[in-house]
Amino acid sequence: MNILLVDDQPAKLMSYEVILAELGENLLKANSANEALQHLLKNEIAVVLIDVCMPDLDGFELAAMIRDHPRYQRTAIIFVSAIMMSDLDRLRGYELGAVDYVPVPFAPELLRAKVRVFADLYRKTRQLEHLNSELERRVDERTAELAQANAELEQRVDDRTREREAALAQVHEMQKMESLGQLTGGVAHDFNNLLMVILGNLQLLRKRVPEDPRLERLIDGAIKGAERGATLTKRMLAFARRTELKPETVEVLRLISGMEEMLRRTLGPTIQISIDLQKGLPAIRVDPNQLELALLNLTLNARDAMPLGGRLEISARCMAAGKGPSGLETGSYVCLAVADSGTGMDEATAKRATEPFFTTKGAGKGTGLGLSMVHGLAAQSGGAMRIKSRVGRGTTVELWLPTAEEAAVVPVGPLAALSTTGLCCRVLVVDDDPLISAATLAMLEDLGHLASEAPSGVRALEALRDGLTVDLVITDQAMPGMTGAELSRQIQKDWPNLPIILATGYADLPHGEDPGLPRLSKPYQQDELATMIAHVLGTVEARPANVISLDTVRRA
Ligand SMILES: Nc1ncnc2c1ncn2[C@@H]1O[C@H](COP(=O)(O)OP(=O)(O)OP(=O)(O)O)[C@@H](O)[C@H]1O
Ligand SMILES: [Mg+2]
Repeated sequence: MNILLVDDQPAKLMSYEVILAELGENLLKANSANEALQHLLKNEIAVVLIDVCMPDLDGFELAAMIRDHPRYQRTAIIFVSAIMMSDLDRLRGYELGAVDYVPVPFAPELLRAKVRVFADLYRKTRQLEHLNSELERRVDERTAELAQANAELEQRVDDRTREREAALAQVHEMQKMESLGQLTGGVAHDFNNLLMVILGNLQLLRKRVPEDPRLERLIDGAIKGAERGATLTKRMLAFARRTELKPETVEVLRLISGMEEMLRRTLGPTIQISIDLQKGLPAIRVDPNQLELALLNLTLNARDAMPLGGRLEISARCMAAGKGPSGLETGSYVCLAVADSGTGMDEATAKRATEPFFTTKGAGKGTGLGLSMVHGLAAQSGGAMRIKSRVGRGTTVELWLPTAEEAAVVPVGPLAALSTTGLCCRVLVVDDDPLISAATLAMLEDLGHLASEAPSGVRALEALRDGLTVDLVITDQAMPGMTGAELSRQIQKDWPNLPIILATGYADLPHGEDPGLPRLSKPYQQDELATMIAHVLGTVEARPANVISLDTVRRA
């Protein structure tokens, strides 16, 4: 710290120096006001000691000049005066900026003490100023931190709000689809049963009417209509995820190669088709017939989107769940994509495309069930569907299906090859719907079987206990009082060798309900019924016609 001593007499300057040396501060000396001003400009001065009487510029004038400088407005100025000063002089000195007077002669301790006090004051003031600026700096820092934290918080609140709104919208959408699914599934299930009755009766009628091409045409027309209805209800059930799926280990390459010719014919010559399958693609777990139907639906949609022709690419890649649509369980999937270069969809259409009955194709042209079916199949198979589409650029529909654990087996010949000729057995049909029961009975009798019916599980058990001898039971699953699964458990307990077929239009038996029986999905037709019976009872040759006792029947 610097202390400036100003006196025109070098001897006095020296004496001050001696007295103040003890303070341990840096002492600067000036012989004139001019010299003093130079020191003040160059150095940071804590205390100025000024002799009042100097020849060129007196102490008061120098003090006034020092005070004028903004840096020295509060620097301690102590006057040393050898002459007697009046109170008026002192007052003038104070007005000009003096902080203290030391009259000569003085005790050295007194001068030292005064200078020390002001030097300390200066030091403390500096420390305070330093602390103050440090404090201000910290306050600024903290304020900036708080402002940033606040901005981050606001951003987080915004993000959360947006996420919540999106999640709510998603939940809403899911609930909507769920109730649509329930409604569609319920309606489709009932129609399915009705169509089964109609189809079954029509087929029998066709066999029995006298040969007349006009009559046959009429019946064929009715059968075709009913079959179209059955296709529709199947799509509706698929959307509602109530299709009776028969998942198998499927090799994508084999399945697509098998379809290629049909797809080419469907698309016509104006659409170029290319197939790009990853090498060594793992097999997938899916119902192959339903997957073929789904691919056909997607191809038809692509064709409709390219009325003037274009390109269609079917590709398949093995992918991890993370890259797929949200909600997929972890694991590996095959992403089957059908991409077209057609019209594409705007955002609103793409959003609603999977809704059942949503179509832009006009009444009578589209049912709006194609994508619903594909979507339902993917979900029911443990996968998902994703649509990527841009207006004018085309559409890609991806089907993500879980890979199978074991390798695909080469399919054996169809069961339909089994012949039922010559087999006559006694069948008990259990169904609470008399129309279905009657249609099944008629089909069975037409196949040469002896059929009896029971309207409920309880009545079926009663009949069996009363001694009704049958070789096979065909039971409906959903019945009031006792389900088909419950009935089958009871039968298996009392008549362990009696074969049972479960006929149902529902895919999902309640948890723990699946008795692992052979299943016939409604609506079934006569040939399917015949195949299933042949499958369950084994080959014809193994048994004598018409006389099969309950004990000897073996379940296939
Ligand atoms: N590849 C595509 N390109 C452009 N739009 C499409 C495509 N696929 C579907 N869409 C749109 O989604 C709607 C619903 O498709 P979806 O397959 O469910 O029913 P649809 O094709 O109209 O009727 P259907 O399948 O019974 O013929 C279509 O009407 C169409 O607007
Ligand atoms: Mg379609």
